[in-house]
Amino acid sequence: MKITLTQQKKAKPDFTKLGFGKYFTDHMLIMDYKDGAWCEPEIVPYGSFSLDPSTCVLHYGQGIFEGLKAYKNAEGKITMFRPYDNFKRMNRSAERLCMPTIDVDKMVEWLKELILVDEEWIPTAPSTALYIRPTMVATDAMLGVHPGHTYRFFIILSPVGSYYPNGLQPTKILVEKEYVRAPLGGTGEAKCMGNYAASLLAGDIANKKGYEQVLWLDSNEHKYVEEVGAMNMFFVFDGVVKTPALVGSILPGITRDSVLQILRAEGKPVEECRISVDEIVAMNEAGKLDEAFGSGTAAVISPVGVLNIAGEDKIINNFEMGPITSYLYDKLTGIQYGRYEDTFGWVVKVN
Ligand code: PLP
Ligand code: COI
Repeated sequence: MKITLTQQKKAKPDFTKLGFGKYFTDHMLIMDYKDGAWCEPEIVPYGSFSLDPSTCVLHYGQGIFEGLKAYKNAEGKITMFRPYDNFKRMNRSAERLCMPTIDVDKMVEWLKELILVDEEWIPTAPSTALYIRPTMVATDAMLGVHPGHTYRFFIILSPVGSYYPNGLQPTKILVEKEYVRAPLGGTGEAKCMGNYAASLLAGDIANKKGYEQVLWLDSNEHKYVEEVGAMNMFFVFDGVVKTPALVGSILPGITRDSVLQILRAEGKPVEECRISVDEIVAMNEAGKLDEAFGSGTAAVISPVGVLNIAGEDKIINNFEMGPITSYLYDKLTGIQYGRYEDTFGWVVKVN
């Protein structure tokens, strides 16, 4: 792979005050698709692209992305968490959006090279990581609505801290009764740009009311829980961990799958099922809604302290992180940061 190093390295931010997705490293990987095939990828200095104003993705949103993380331990060993699964999901998103797929194995190897070029950007402070954002967009300059013939794939890297500004403090989430994120048969299970654009208005309204995120319900009956803007949801009902089944409108989260595998490996009761808002209210009233938490690459394991349902705040576990949520946070981050042995084969070495 051709690597062109920057002549002007950027000043690094304070790695203890990173926030999420605000800083980018010195290099990026780019790879173009034309004449029915991917060209060789290249690592180049991080910088702007120039796009014709008629470029497809700018009008019709034919674009997909992924999110995964790399970690560096005290001995300087760098690892990634489940990168093959992210690129496999990207290929499923590509198929849904009529875009070309990529070679997963080669992409993981190229990504390792990119990470090593920008190794000094991997933060090591607690709860920090290098967030990796692979993206693919249609680049044809034309206004007809049909799949592109040319695409740009790129990967950018961002040293990050917690996704939520208050870190592991429980979040407040508004259950959205009017707007929906994705209907059945839509693009909900693809990680495509439009899903996020469609979520902004409800998210903004929720933010103005003091809630961090929106909990989306099913598009047919507005009764069943789907997911949160950047996380899959879990509820602990009377000791049983439940998460919405993957019905086609929900993103099949890799962290969600990791949580399920961890719990199942330990023989803990878990269910992938339909979860209605009525059930949440009834369990809460019966004192049996033990815990609620979200899972995601950016959000990791994030306790939910308040669910606003039909205008009423339902407080969960006294607005404290519950024992199963804490256990999963510790176990998952333990595997990711190398504190615990990875018995699942999720951790991929970079150096
Ligand atoms: N749901 C949505 C809509 C997301 O954007 C994300 C983040 O990627 C998730 C769920 C969690 O998925 P993962 O665990 O693969 O990061
Ligand atoms: C992730 O967790 O990787 C996401 O993509 C969530 C979000 C920042 C869109």
